[in-house]
Amino acid sequence: MHVYGFVPVIGICLLIYFSSYFLTKTEYLKFTTHRRIWNLLLLISFLIAGTLGLFMSFIKSFELDLEIPEFILKIHAGFGMVWFVIAFFHFSWHLSYFKKAIKVLVTSNEN
Ligand code: HEM
Repeated sequence: MHVYGFVPVIGICLLIYFSSYFLTKTEYLKFTTHRRIWNLLLLISFLIAGTLGLFMSFIKSFELDLEIPEFILKIHAGFGMVWFVIAFFHFSWHLSYFKKAIKVLVTSNEN
């Protein structure tokens, strides 16, 4: 049974995100800079969690005689959770795009 620190990882990630968001309401941080920082963190967490996940899938799929160390699983799971949280906020910034896309797809299907 592995422990992945769900509450601390998600909690710290949300705390840092909302602190950064709060700063955009002051003169210290522009909203565009906030988005740039979080887009970069989204890329980094995706690359780390995704690359490790891909390597592990390869090892498992080809039944390679390699033991995946626990710390690799922890890094993968940790960055995976961070990736999800940031992706959720990223998605929320582009919600209007998805609303429009669904509307266009639904209405064009009616014709
Ligand atoms: C590109 C996407 C991903 C791929 C290809 C992937 C692949 C994998 C693979 C192959 C394993 C199994 C390792 C093993 O059996 O020892 C694994 C484990 C795990 N993954 Fe991912 N993963 C991905 C994304 C994520 C994300 C986004 C999260 C978290 C939100 C996550 C959380 C976990 C956890 C907690 C485990 C460990 C399960 C255990 O203890 O056995 N993964 N992943």
